[in-house]
Amino acid sequence: MSSYKPAERVRHRLPVLGTPSIEEALASRMFSPLRLASGLELAERTWVPAMVPWRATAAGMVSADVLAWYRRFAEGQPGAIVVEATGVRDVASGPLLRIGDDRFVPGLRELCRVVKEASGGRTRLFIQLIDFLRIRRRPEPARYFERFLHLRPEHRVALARLRPGVDLEGSDAVVRHELARLDRHELETVLDRRELEALEFGERERVWDTEDPAIRELPRILPAAFAAAARRACDAGFDGVELHYAHAYTMASFLSRRNVRTDGYGGDREGRVRLPLEVFAAVRAAVGTQIAVGCRFLCDEIIDGGGSVADASDFATRFARAGMDFLSLSTGGKFEDAAQPRIGEAAYPYTGRSGWECMPTALSDERGPFGRNIEKQAAIRRSVREAGLETPVVLCGGIASFEQAEAYLKDGKGDVIAAARQSLADPDWFRKLRLGRGDEVRRCKYTNYCEALDQRHRQVTCQLWDRVTLDEPGAPLSEDGRRRLIAPRWET
Ligand SMILES: Cc1cc2nc3c(=O)[nH]c(=O)nc-3n(C[C@H](O)[C@H](O)[C@H](O)COP(=O)(O)O)c2cc1C
Ligand code: SF4
Repeated sequence: MSSYKPAERVRHRLPVLGTPSIEEALASRMFSPLRLASGLELAERTWVPAMVPWRATAAGMVSADVLAWYRRFAEGQPGAIVVEATGVRDVASGPLLRIGDDRFVPGLRELCRVVKEASGGRTRLFIQLIDFLRIRRRPEPARYFERFLHLRPEHRVALARLRPGVDLEGSDAVVRHELARLDRHELETVLDRRELEALEFGERERVWDTEDPAIRELPRILPAAFAAAARRACDAGFDGVELHYAHAYTMASFLSRRNVRTDGYGGDREGRVRLPLEVFAAVRAAVGTQIAVGCRFLCDEIIDGGGSVADASDFATRFARAGMDFLSLSTGGKFEDAAQPRIGEAAYPYTGRSGWECMPTALSDERGPFGRNIEKQAAIRRSVREAGLETPVVLCGGIASFEQAEAYLKDGKGDVIAAARQSLADPDWFRKLRLGRGDEVRRCKYTNYCEALDQRHRQVTCQLWDRVTLDEPGAPLSEDGRRRLIAPRWET
């Protein structure tokens, strides 16, 4: 599956890192504490956002490799780490973490223990709670026509025009056989848009498919599912939960301007934000202020007909007014513009332009990858402040240096700095900056080698360290034994 690349191919150099002395770091905004409304204090304004590493067990449990992954980030002592997107419903989803039943709690409790220990109690641990709808793999065309296509009378009528001599009134098998022989142009006149999509991309549910009872009932099901998951997170010892309202998943789709539900949960902004607010209210009722509750959502969907900064500013203000502890911003990452997957694979929401805007690469357009969506995020924060609300805003996307981060904080563009890929490249980078040892930072190259692994559902590692000292005692290795799974230790 080939991913979107901008037409311009400008190779950007990394921004100047900025290497503060210990005194400068201590006096900086970045390394100053932050208190959230529920009372939780971050020791510093640094944040490792959610990153799925494909290390959970096949049953969605915390594995030894999951513990090693988060232990490694915790050794870098950031203000907060957000554990990867973790499913709130008790449905099989491969090696992705789950929290949809009490049996997941002991493993998650151990995860909290490990992070507290490794960070010396300095890092606050959040878990990202996600719901997602079904997406099928792109089918073999013959199998699609044989098994998956739901035959409608209109198929026979359209086919009769194209194959006048063939008897189509009898067995379905004949109709399916004839459909499988049509070329692309002919298929366009027989299949509807969703059927064509199911054939060429794999069938995908939408939140506005309300003729399906399971989808229609989502507003009845999800508040309780998120609330129960948050309760479990609280019992496991997490400091907070991040409701995943971003990218290609269920809650982001409710917020999306593409959401055309007519049952009061779609259409205008009021309708689209209704379920996200109801989910938050249910979560807050379940955990009170025992733990922090915030959400991650998009500053811009980036897709045609999608929502932009004006929508996000409105949602942000409503979330803040409802009492969220933080607003974490991301960009794009949608299915709507995803590239066509290969047969047998599922579409991946980071292969189109919206995906590229979510994780922009060093080979870029004129604007480059570094902080390219921060101005949008700053505008959203301004709206929240203009409404008289102080909810902290977490900035993210191509933040690769102390200079950048400190300037954003000083200029009031955001309150917390999240860095995903730079933290993967060097889990100690925030700590090195804080200790005046910024010249030791291993800098991310923004090539998206890691993201390509994620796309292929392979254990995520970084090209800068996954082939070094493979024989280090105790270093966990990938399934094929050729890559180390966590960054080498920083010898302080
Ligand atoms: C391997 C990988 C997995 C990711 N998984 C998640 C996820 O589970 N939830 C989420 O909200 N974002 C996820 N992201 C997006 C990051 O949190 C972040 O928004 C994005 O990488 C841009 O930030 P950066 O430029 O600092 O890397 C993932 C990113 C990567 C590279
Ligand atoms: S693999 Fe590349 S993009 Fe990913 S963290 Fe490492 S250097 Fe950065």
